[in-house]
Amino acid sequence: PPAAEFDLKAHIRGIPDFPKPGILFYDISTLLRNGPAWKAAMSRMAGKIRPYRPTMLAGIESRGFLLAAPLALELGLGFVMLRKPRKLPGETIGYDYELEYGTDRLEMQADAVTAADRVVVLDDLLATGGTMAASIQLLRKAGATVPAAGAMVELTFLNGRQRLDVPVETLVAYDS
Ligand code: PRP
Ligand code: MG
Repeated sequence: PPAAEFDLKAHIRGIPDFPKPGILFYDISTLLRNGPAWKAAMSRMAGKIRPYRPTMLAGIESRGFLLAAPLALELGLGFVMLRKPRKLPGETIGYDYELEYGTDRLEMQADAVTAADRVVVLDDLLATGGTMAASIQLLRKAGATVPAAGAMVELTFLNGRQRLDVPVETLVAYDS
């Protein structure tokens, strides 16, 4: 079927009690394993992201890389990695953010973007939005404009998009 009609949810499974009891984990591994489903997801995301006229895409380690790299190729754009601490060589810029317990940090190479760049940031899943909010702040700290964010899956009951000050494009949503 055409990408727009492809039932992506049929290829995503919910695994109960992972990583902790009471959590239903939406697993995209089964979608990635299926060539046509994977391709349909990427072409739909390309259609949603193209209108923002990005000059570059950013992916959030690690599952965000799975979206951002193929989408960059599809859109003919460069791709920048937002990584967990101390993974990138050379001069880096970091952004620390709060978790439920403790803090976390994302880093990128200091020379990865310029003030002329419009960078759309991508992740596999939007849950509380904490990771996506931090990545947007990091890209701004590095000087870029962030016209939008994208994620394959959105957990609407966690209200992640309310924490973001840019539009978020998602492909499938779960309300519980
Ligand atoms: C997961 C997911 C998102 C983030 C969403 O990443 O891939 O990056 O959590 O959560 P939030 O919206 O509440 O911030 P995880 O930390 O499990 O790491 P991984 O991508 O390396 O598997
Ligand atoms: Mg992640």
